[in-house]
Amino acid sequence: MLQLHDVTKTFAGKSEVTALAGINLNIGAGEMVAIMGPSGSGKSTLLNLLGGLDVPTSGQIVVAGKNLAGESEKERSLFRRSQVSYIFQAYHLMPTLKVSQNVALPLHLAGIPAGEIARKVERVLKEVGLEARENHLPDELSGGERQRVAIARALVTDAPLLLADEPTGNLDTARGEEILNLLRTIHRERGTTIVIVTHDHHAASACDRLIKLRDGRVEGDSAVGGGK
Ligand SMILES: Nc1ncnc2c1ncn2[C@@H]1O[C@H](COP(=O)(O)OP(=O)(O)OP(=O)(O)O)[C@@H](O)[C@H]1O
Ligand SMILES: [Mg+2]
Repeated sequence: MLQLHDVTKTFAGKSEVTALAGINLNIGAGEMVAIMGPSGSGKSTLLNLLGGLDVPTSGQIVVAGKNLAGESEKERSLFRRSQVSYIFQAYHLMPTLKVSQNVALPLHLAGIPAGEIARKVERVLKEVGLEARENHLPDELSGGERQRVAIARALVTDAPLLLADEPTGNLDTARGEEILNLLRTIHRERGTTIVIVTHDHHAASACDRLIKLRDGRVEGDSAVGGGK
């Protein structure tokens, strides 16, 4: 599903920053993988590359058979729409849209009929426990509720690859546990490939494999016993 060969990413600026310093990685279809590492180790940068949101400075990234490093912005955007759903570290909800409209947005963009959108949105809001908030604006929600809206919006499209940056970062233990269970169910029932960036050892133990980053390099890569 995902193959990275010697991937580097540097950010130019007043002083150049090497965010990724040569990553080699294979992630198979249907795997559920956690990425951990200190702040600044390159986790979000790596996730952005996997999702086609950015391109590497050098190296190759093949996702679902497509070499993203060589694609134009337009091609990558088409790829994202059909293949990837993304739970951002900073939610990125549309402030003027109600909860249900935020969740429906990717389906609208994909041209899905209104009736089908309504059914899917209702189902996924129930799954994240926000059915009573569907007519609220993001500003009227708590941080954890906003996070759940972002998760619902990612789940609603049934994309084969789900990328999540700290999906349980702002949730209490019980809510975090529910979201992890939900992600595991999606993984099991739909065969979705899931990559989760997390600081939380408990979240990592819900995955099948743990990749550790340090200073833009893979420092460890091992199977996790806790994955059921
Ligand atoms: N757009 C950018 N321009 C310049 N430097 C950047 C940019 N994005 C990230 N960096 C730098 O690249 C490095 C890796 O950043 P990244 O966001 O991937 O870290 P992270 O592991 O996700 O950290 P955190 O756990 O704090 O979210 C950091 O040193 C960061 O300052
Ligand atoms: Mg980050």
